Amino acid sequence: MARVGGGLKRIEAQHQRGKLTARERLSLLLDENSFEEFDMFVEHRATDFGMAETKIPGDGVVTGWGTINGRTVFVFAKDFTVFGGSLSETHAQKITKIQDMALKNRAPIIGLFDAGGARIQEGVAALGGYGEVFQRNVLASGVIPQISVIMGPCAGGDVYSPAMTDFIFMVRDTSYMFVTGPDVVKTVTNETVTAEQLGGASIHTTKSSIADGAYDNDVEALIQMRRLMDFLPANNLAGVPQIDAFDDPNRIETSLDTLIPDNPNKPYDMKELILKVADEGDFFEIQAAFAKNIVTGFGRIGGRTVGFVANQPMVLAGVLDSDASRKAARFVRFCDCFNIPLVTFVDVPGFLPGTAQEYGGLIKHGAKLLFAYAEATVPKVTVITRKGYGGAYVVMSSKHLRGDVNYAWPAAEIAVMGPKGAAEILYRSELDDPEKIGKRIQEYTDRFANPFVAAERGYIDEVIMPHSTRRRIARALEMLRNKNLENPWKKHDNIPL
Ligand code: HXC
Repeated sequence: MARVGGGLKRIEAQHQRGKLTARERLSLLLDENSFEEFDMFVEHRATDFGMAETKIPGDGVVTGWGTINGRTVFVFAKDFTVFGGSLSETHAQKITKIQDMALKNRAPIIGLFDAGGARIQEGVAALGGYGEVFQRNVLASGVIPQISVIMGPCAGGDVYSPAMTDFIFMVRDTSYMFVTGPDVVKTVTNETVTAEQLGGASIHTTKSSIADGAYDNDVEALIQMRRLMDFLPANNLAGVPQIDAFDDPNRIETSLDTLIPDNPNKPYDMKELILKVADEGDFFEIQAAFAKNIVTGFGRIGGRTVGFVANQPMVLAGVLDSDASRKAARFVRFCDCFNIPLVTFVDVPGFLPGTAQEYGGLIKHGAKLLFAYAEATVPKVTVITRKGYGGAYVVMSSKHLRGDVNYAWPAAEIAVMGPKGAAEILYRSELDDPEKIGKRIQEYTDRFANPFVAAERGYIDEVIMPHSTRRRIARALEMLRNKNLENPWKKHDNIPL
């Protein structure tokens, strides 16, 4: 009875919507025959609203553990066919049991969501259940990776548990997340929106940045979760997984010597650098569709996971704005929690000026990234490929924020601002004379549009050739393998939120 959940008719309806059932999903997520189920016989204890007569073993959530490529992971999958996957007191207890097991055994936990929020027939018992789940999310944060995959409706109480996990992924067109649905929105604000417009994958991956990625269907999403798990450590003490990579860490990539265009204002694709530096060009991007002026994601060098953070000159010239700062700050903090070394590629003209940014709290959001890099104690290797201007130079894993190994390519320009802007401020009285101001710009370019002023001071450890970037980073990370750096004891820091 537990295995058929809400019955064949509801399973059929689930399939007709292009969705798999909870059990089908788990069998795709986990290694074959590795799933061990807990609490298949648990039933709810509600009696109101006719519930005494409707009990379904399992109570709307399938829980247990299994392996992904041989590594232990705890899982729960909401079963939409049983009371809409809604959360009752006992349903919550099944989840908290898994959360406790995952934390005690220091293994990651993955939740698959497809549910209608609190079990309406249960009232406060369901709310209390959510509270218990939330509390455990917080205690596990930074200790074990917690991942949420939204594969159907996710409303009310169901949104806040994912929101406190490390990553949220969605399935396009079949999943949506919101605190209150379209009907409530209509009643309270008189806005008319569809579920997709209010909280579909298209919104949460591009506008709200709630979701870290989206996939076309359940199968694709689950395959990608297996791939992601291969990058992640089991917990905050385990260290990154080592896989047998057949890509030589000393590989020379001559094409990188021509990556930077002659014209300093011409863009190039920073992802090309990431793909050419990472083992086998394997890069798992996080928040690919949001704040595209900064790129974040996981790759490997020498078979070991690193977190890449890179300004993207193709979008807004790679400028740092509020969204980019928040996106990268959260990623840097995830890597630092789980001892994943950071590799930062810098080509940044500065922070984005303007009222929109300032009113939106650029100071506070920019500070998040600054704070995240400064507090991070993991190995930090930085390469300035072209521009490193102003505050953004300092923020992007500079020597001053305890960057361990800081390289620059020969074409790097490291200064307070670009030559034109600098000359126009310093020599305002000469602005009307194009010849004079041109000379001033040239003077500033000659003096600062290179990496050597920073290198003279030791802010750049070495100027390296682009083709040797992978080899130099691989060697630096190898040297930093036993890095041991601790911040002063504190209850926790007070990062600007
Ligand atoms: C009990 C529920 C349920 C719920 C759905 N069902 N949600 N049962 N409690 N919360 C049941 C339905 O009665 C139905 O049963 C079956 O699940 C499928 O639901 P449908 O409505 O037929 O499906 P669909 O049309 O796809 O709509 C899905 C839905 C909708 C959008 C999720 O069901 C819905 O709006 N549900 C309520 C959402 C909600 O407001 N939840 C409470 C949020 S408050 P049968 O037997 O007909 O198959 C909350 C507070 C927590 O969560 C706060 C903590 C901080």
